[in-house]
Amino acid sequence: MAEFTLPKNSKVGEGKRHPAPSGATNVKTFRVYRWSPDDDKNPEVDSFEIDMDDCGPMVLDALIKIKNEVDSTVTFRRSCREGICGSCAMNIDGTNTLACLKPIEEVKGDVKVYPLPHMPVIKDLVPDVSQIYAQLASIEPWLKTVTPPPPDGERLQSPEDRAKLDGLWECILCFCCSTSCPSYWWNGDRYLGPAILLQAYRWLADSRDEAKGERLDALEDPFRLYRCHTIMNCTKTCPKGLNPAKAIAEVKKMMVERQG
Ligand code: SF4
Ligand code: SF4
Ligand code: FES
Repeated sequence: MAEFTLPKNSKVGEGKRHPAPSGATNVKTFRVYRWSPDDDKNPEVDSFEIDMDDCGPMVLDALIKIKNEVDSTVTFRRSCREGICGSCAMNIDGTNTLACLKPIEEVKGDVKVYPLPHMPVIKDLVPDVSQIYAQLASIEPWLKTVTPPPPDGERLQSPEDRAKLDGLWECILCFCCSTSCPSYWWNGDRYLGPAILLQAYRWLADSRDEAKGERLDALEDPFRLYRCHTIMNCTKTCPKGLNPAKAIAEVKKMMVERQG
């Protein structure tokens, strides 16, 4: 499992305690990281005691309940509630994962909820993803071609070539992997990290793409690609069961093959 590391701007104190409603008999405590740029103080961890007989099964259900019923200032991202949008990625019980897919009953004891590690925090559980999105844009994640498309149809791909994209297209850009990668923690300004390198490989592996040489040239750099030391945290933590470390190894293999 990915080791938990505190987010940047952290020296975390004990925050407010919100007791369970009277009469609740099935109580779980959620310990939630709180920090706001509007308050002139260090981050704190607030405790929310939640009646599990009146709460949905996933950690995101509890966070939504907390926001709706206890403290409307608790801030987090979410949209789909079914593991598709990638926006509810956070560190739960010491592991980066999606709050909407994480069953509360899997957590023994208190449920510790922190933002993704080693990212600047905008507020509470919301990391600043500007840098990683700029890195995504830098690999030009779209089909690049020089030949014109067939006049009467789409650019076709054989079932075998299409199958080469399995395990890549499913990535939802939640960044659980990159924020669990020690190499990305320490060199995130120059190393692209597992999420972005998996995206880079998704286009390198696409039989329809005609910019393979140009894409490899852009990755041929001591930092962008080669800071991966195969520590495998990324693959262990991916909530979609993908294998970014393998994708990175495939890119390195392509580099070697083209050198002859
Ligand atoms: S395998 Fe590479 S990308 Fe994945 S966690 Fe390790 S160093 Fe990071
Ligand atoms: S590879 Fe997995 S953990 Fe990484 S961004 Fe994609 S879905 Fe998230
Ligand atoms: S809310 Fe969309 S992945 Fe969790």
